[in-house]
Amino acid sequence: MCGIVGYLGSSQAAPVLLSSLRCLEYRGYDSAGVAIIENGELAVLKAAGKLSNLESLLNTKQPQATVGIGHTRWATHGVPNDQNAHPHTDCTGTLAIVHNGIIENYQSLRQELSDNGHTFESDTDTEVVSHLIEDEFRGSGDMLTAIRGAVRRLEGAYALGVVSQIFPEKIYAVNHHYSLAVGLGENESYLASDSVAVRQYTNKILRLEQSEIAEISTEGVKLYAFDGTTVNRSPVEVDSNPYVIDKEGHKHFLHKEIHEQPLIMRQTLGKYLHHPEKPVDFSAANGSGHHCGDSSYGVHLSKEDLKKVRRIFIVACGTAYHAGLVGKYVLEELCGIPVEVEIASEMRGRNLLVNGETLTVAVSQSGETADTLAAITEAKSKGSMTLGITNRPDSHLAQITPNLIVTECGIEVSVAATKTFVAQCACFYLLALHIAEELGTIPAARILEIKAQLLAIPALQEQILAREDVVRLKSLRHAEAHDVVFIGRGMNYPIALEGALKLKELSYIHASGYAAGELKHGPIAVLDRNVPVITVLVPGAVYEKTLSNAQEARARNAQMIAVAIDGDEQATKIFDTILRIPPVDEFLSPLLTVIPLQLLSYFIADYLGKDVDQPRNLAKSVTVE
Ligand code: M6R
Repeated sequence: MCGIVGYLGSSQAAPVLLSSLRCLEYRGYDSAGVAIIENGELAVLKAAGKLSNLESLLNTKQPQATVGIGHTRWATHGVPNDQNAHPHTDCTGTLAIVHNGIIENYQSLRQELSDNGHTFESDTDTEVVSHLIEDEFRGSGDMLTAIRGAVRRLEGAYALGVVSQIFPEKIYAVNHHYSLAVGLGENESYLASDSVAVRQYTNKILRLEQSEIAEISTEGVKLYAFDGTTVNRSPVEVDSNPYVIDKEGHKHFLHKEIHEQPLIMRQTLGKYLHHPEKPVDFSAANGSGHHCGDSSYGVHLSKEDLKKVRRIFIVACGTAYHAGLVGKYVLEELCGIPVEVEIASEMRGRNLLVNGETLTVAVSQSGETADTLAAITEAKSKGSMTLGITNRPDSHLAQITPNLIVTECGIEVSVAATKTFVAQCACFYLLALHIAEELGTIPAARILEIKAQLLAIPALQEQILAREDVVRLKSLRHAEAHDVVFIGRGMNYPIALEGALKLKELSYIHASGYAAGELKHGPIAVLDRNVPVITVLVPGAVYEKTLSNAQEARARNAQMIAVAIDGDEQATKIFDTILRIPPVDEFLSPLLTVIPLQLLSYFIADYLGKDVDQPRNLAKSVTVE
C-alpha cells in the first residue's frame, strides 16, 4: 500500500527519493510523487501509474534539491490519477504533505475548510491535512505548533511527511498508530514508512512510536509527543545487510520466492529446532540478531501460562488466514486445545470473547495489516495472552505482542504470498510441538516422529520444484478457464482455499476453494465440462471421502485435476491431470501440496501475460481497514 520516503542532507534528493520509492514498489501502488525544496521554493512532481513515469518526469525536470519527501499511493479515496497522487499542497503552495492511512473524519473537515475559503484540488482524504496545517500555521507561525494543532483535529490511523518552503531545511514526520522511521546517516537523514527503503543508506534507525512528531533537520532529529513534550529515544541498529531486492536470474520475484521455499523451511526450522531429540526452542537467545526496537523477540510463555490456556484464537487475513487454518488442525491435534480462526476484519464491531485463559495468535507476513493489528490489540486489552507470527521483526505487530515468532523468509517482494505461507505453517507446527512438549499432550515418540518428518520436508519440496516443467505443461492446458474450483478436506481444506486465492490474484481467473464435502451442498451447480476441479488428495484419514467428492465432480463432466502423491494408482483412474508430490504423512502434507498449486497459478498468470509480481488492485501490505 502507500509508502512514504524523505531525504535531507547534502546529496541530490531526487535520486535518493526515487531509489527509496523503488524499495517500496513491492507493497503495491498506482501513482507516485515527490515534493522538493528547489532554490527555496516548493516544487511538486507526480505521475499516475508506475514509478517509471515519475522517473521520466524527474529526468526531464532535473530538480536540484537536497531536501524532499516522496510517496507511492494505493488509491482509497479518489481514482488513481495525477491529481490524486501525493504530495498534496495547501492553498499557498508553500507546504506539501504525503500521507499513509485514512483520515476518517475528512468529509466534515473538508466541508468546514471549504466553507472557510480553502480550495481543494483532489478527491483524497489527505488534502484536508495540508489545509488544516495551513490554518494552524497562520495562527501560530510555528510549524510544530501548527502540526500539533492539525493532528488534534484528525481521526483515524495515519503517518505523514511534511515539507514547507518557509522552513526549507526541515522535514516533519508524524506517526499515529502507523509505521514511520527515520534513518540516520552522516549529516543526513532518511524518512521511510518501511525501513526496507533506507537500509541501502544506513542501519541506524529511529522509529516513531504512536502519536509522535519528528522534526528532522541538518542538526539531527528531535522527537515530540502530540502534547508537545520532548521524547528521548536512541536509534537502534538493524541488520547491517540491506535487503537485496534482486530476481537473481528468475523471470519474476514470485518464481524466485516459490523456489526459495526449501531454503526458507530450513532456515525457519533451523532457527527453532536444532535436532529431533531436542525441544523446540523459541527463546530470545536463540534469535539470529534481529531486533525489534531495543527488545529481542521470542516466546516467553511459561509452562504455567500454557497450562492456563483453554482456547487458542487465531486472527489473520488472506493467505495468513489460510496458514492459521492449517495451524488450527495442527494445534488441536497435538495440544488438545480448541482453536478458532477468524478473519481479522470480521472482528470489527463485535464482542471479542477472549480473556486471561485465551491465547490470541496474530499471523501477518508484514506485521502491518490494519485489521490484524486491531484484532490483536483488542484481544490484548481484554487480558488475552498474545503471540505474533510475522516475517518482519521491525513491524508494528512485533512492537505490540510480547511473544513473537519470526519466519526467516527475507523480504517477500511479490505481492502474492508464497514462501511466507509455508514458513507460517512451519511456525504453527513448531508452536504446537513446543506446547505439546511443555504440557505432555502427546507421547514423546510421536513428537520425535513429527520432528524428524518436519526436518525432511525441505528435501521433498525440492523434488516438487525439480519437476516444475511438467507442472507448467499440465497447468497450461487449463489457462483458458473462466472458473476453477478447488476442493480439499481436513489439513488440505486450507490448501484448497489458498490454491484458489493464488489463482485468482495472479491470473484474475475466478476461482473458489471449498471443503470437498461441501461441493454437493451448492457449488456443484456450477460444474460442467468447462470447469476445472482441482482436488488436493493425500492418503490418510480423509483420502477415500475426498476421492468420493472428486467422483461427484467427474460425474458432472468437470475437468479433473489432482494434486496427488507419486504412485497413487486410484488417482490415475479418476483424474485427467495429476500434479505429483512425493509421498508424505497427511499431517505434514500442506507443506507440500500448496507448491504445485502455487506453480500452477504462476505459470497460468505468466502465460496470460499478467503482472505476476504486482497484480492489479492489490497491495502487499494492507494498512487500511
Ligand atoms: O501481511 P499480511 O500477512 O498480514 O497480509 C495478509 C494478506 O493481505 C495477504 O496474505 C494477501 O492475502 C496476499 N496477497 C496473498 O497472496
